[in-house]
Amino acid sequence: MKPTIINVSLNNKFNNFSYPIFIGNGLLCNCEEILKKFVLKRKVILIHDNFFSLKNKDNEQFISFVKTINKLCESVNLIGIPGGDKSKNISQLECILEESLSFKIDRSSLIIAFGGGVIGDIAGFAASILLRGIDFVQVPTTLLAQVDSSVGGKTGINSNKSKNLIGSFHQPIAVIADIDILKSLPKREFLAGLVEVIKYGLIYDVEFFDSLENNYRDILSYDQLKLNEIISKSCEIKSLIIKNDEKESGKRALLNLGHTFGHAIESFGKYDGTIVHGEAVSIGICLAFRLSSKMSYCPQFETDRVVRFFKKLNLPTSLQELINLPITTTEMLKKFKYDKKNKNNQLTFILNKKIGKSFIKNNMDENILIEFLNDEI
Ligand SMILES: NC(=O)c1ccc[n+]([C@@H]2O[C@H](COP(=O)([O-])OP(=O)(O)OC[C@H]3O[C@@H](n4cnc5c(N)ncnc54)[C@H](O)[C@@H]3O)[C@@H](O)[C@H]2O)c1
Ligand SMILES: [Zn+2]
Repeated sequence: MKPTIINVSLNNKFNNFSYPIFIGNGLLCNCEEILKKFVLKRKVILIHDNFFSLKNKDNEQFISFVKTINKLCESVNLIGIPGGDKSKNISQLECILEESLSFKIDRSSLIIAFGGGVIGDIAGFAASILLRGIDFVQVPTTLLAQVDSSVGGKTGINSNKSKNLIGSFHQPIAVIADIDILKSLPKREFLAGLVEVIKYGLIYDVEFFDSLENNYRDILSYDQLKLNEIISKSCEIKSLIIKNDEKESGKRALLNLGHTFGHAIESFGKYDGTIVHGEAVSIGICLAFRLSSKMSYCPQFETDRVVRFFKKLNLPTSLQELINLPITTTEMLKKFKYDKKNKNNQLTFILNKKIGKSFIKNNMDENILIEFLNDEI
């Protein structure tokens, strides 16, 4: 079957740039046609999640993908790194940079990120600063990466202070999302990815949210058609939002629904796997809705419906479920202050008027936040 192709077009001041997202089954085992245009006669550095290995026969798609690249390009060098947010740090980045340089790359060399959001974010960041910027291709292997992190060009690593504070905007030249690769994904990671899918419905498209509520059983049983539908729809919504706001000076911030809370929660977990990104965002979205209702922006029944759906999916919905993390109101507020959306020391949050309608709330009143968090923790 032919892949679905979504073009991400960016209208920025300097140039009009677009790139394709290929979505479908069997893409990695038959990737010559797709890849030709992007890798032909280039030096390729393939940065992959250590979950994938040429020695493991179960990694059929990875093995076949590497074989095809080998055939098409001048040379391929592999760099394996562990998945998980613990890898998104400055020393891992340094290793990638030094190792890439040791392969004598030049400005026509290409980085391919083969893995989840962690690999995509750090490999993309490396591509953006090596030799002042070389091309890169995203091959996302988690649901989260296929629907979110591989698209839009945000790249980076975490700082000890909070998440994703060091990074750049660097768009990939192509994204290849093969649904077959999700078969080995643990249920926990699949659900974490689903949170970002639901997020699109909550921000922008109530009908999409309705359809997720109606079809969640098929989605959880990896129904291929449904997966294709939700991945395509998510990429469509994301590309629509970033089209006119690549660098997040306006509407793109809406994609951060649940993330101000989520990033703070994740950093309490020290990125050790106690809580993964999608789970933290699940709680973050529920908090954003509860705060929206508390501030009378959103009817309580809408908030209840959102929380009910996350609970049905066995996703966490409140801070009280995180008994192992040292979360306090004071520490939480400190972490909010590092959020990239803030302006002039004023906190910014993404809140909702209803399902399908998020908005940017600037100048958030800290006293309301304190009262809210004291009730939630
Ligand atoms: N750049 C962006 O716009 C953006 C958007 C959303 C999230 N993110 C970032 O993405 C990261 C989260 O991404 P993630 O959830 O993909 O994390 P991840 O890359 O750590 O992958 C999750 C886990 O799945 C494993 N894995 C990957 N592919 C697999 C497969 N096919 N089968 C089995 N296991 C597999 C990994 O080894 C890891 O243990 C966070 O750091 C978050 O900040 C970035
Ligand atoms: Zn996210």
